[in-house]
Amino acid sequence: GWNMEDVSEEEIRAIKGTVGPEDHVICALSGGVDSTVAATLVHKAIGDRLHCIFVDNGLLRYKERERVMETFEKDLHLPVTCVDASEQFLGHLKGVTDPEVKRKIIGREFINIFDVFAHDLEQKLGRKPAYLVQGTLYPDVIESCPPPGSGRTHSHTIKSHHNVGGLPKDMKLKLIEPLKLLFKDEVRELGRILDVPVGFLKRHPFPGPGLAVRVLGDVTQGNALDVLRQVDEIFIQSIKDAGLYDTIWQAFAVFLPVRTVGVQGDQRTHSHVVALRAVTSQDGMTADWYYFEHKFLDDVSRKICNSVRGVNRVVQDITSKPPSTIEWE
Ligand code: XMP
Repeated sequence: GWNMEDVSEEEIRAIKGTVGPEDHVICALSGGVDSTVAATLVHKAIGDRLHCIFVDNGLLRYKERERVMETFEKDLHLPVTCVDASEQFLGHLKGVTDPEVKRKIIGREFINIFDVFAHDLEQKLGRKPAYLVQGTLYPDVIESCPPPGSGRTHSHTIKSHHNVGGLPKDMKLKLIEPLKLLFKDEVRELGRILDVPVGFLKRHPFPGPGLAVRVLGDVTQGNALDVLRQVDEIFIQSIKDAGLYDTIWQAFAVFLPVRTVGVQGDQRTHSHVVALRAVTSQDGMTADWYYFEHKFLDDVSRKICNSVRGVNRVVQDITSKPPSTIEWE
């Protein structure tokens, strides 16, 4: 491995050298580790000529917006504009059930919002932003051959993933990709050096389309998103309380668009089923379902049914990848 202190200093120097003294830079923060570390690095280099945007697409987890904005502002002092576009996203997703169509709509709306942000910024600054920061990692850039002179050999498994930023091509922004020679564990190390809170650096991956791929079918059905947020929060909090969060690659709940019969109090209920999924993995390409203790599952299931209205049944996903994918959609 490389010395991340050196990498950090070299990157900051390189960014200072690349970005002209009058140039402005924009960055879309997803709330994930990569875009956060990339933005923090650029911020160290050019200060508030960096302009970040965080979009609430209405598909975020419980209190996610508040939590990440607190990290961005209080811990990292990043200049961030938070855009609440929930209504816009959910409006366009109403009635849509096909998973790939959902993804397309979310990607398209994101670009629309990013466009507005960039144009507003241009008005305000009186000049076009020149660069765009992206948190691209090494495994995203190499297909079969590493960049010449990168000093990297092609020994890790490659994952091609679809991140937040399919961004507008007509904007003529030059790219800054300060993490493009790094692997995930190196990005975490770099983040530690840049004082990104350790708890933040250990966050599980979260898909760009968010809870849209975890509410099966129409995302706007009933109070599905709200139910899912509550269930997910109980599950994740229980995992943290049990000290299991860091051994699990990803854990989450899925809202199923079916109702089953139950009995709660003296009442017969006809309510929703939620599924819990937790997997271990090295890179997300393959994954094994995680084996919880009986007692843990029992507690979680009780907690969910006792405190989340509209849920009377909890099941666990016990499939690995392959044959399943990690997400249900
Ligand atoms: P799957 O479900 O394909 O997921 O086994 C592998 C990893 O990728 C994440 N994932 C996504 N990330 N946009 C993203 O940014 C997406 O559309 C998307 N779909 C899946 C998933 O959470 C897992 O970490």
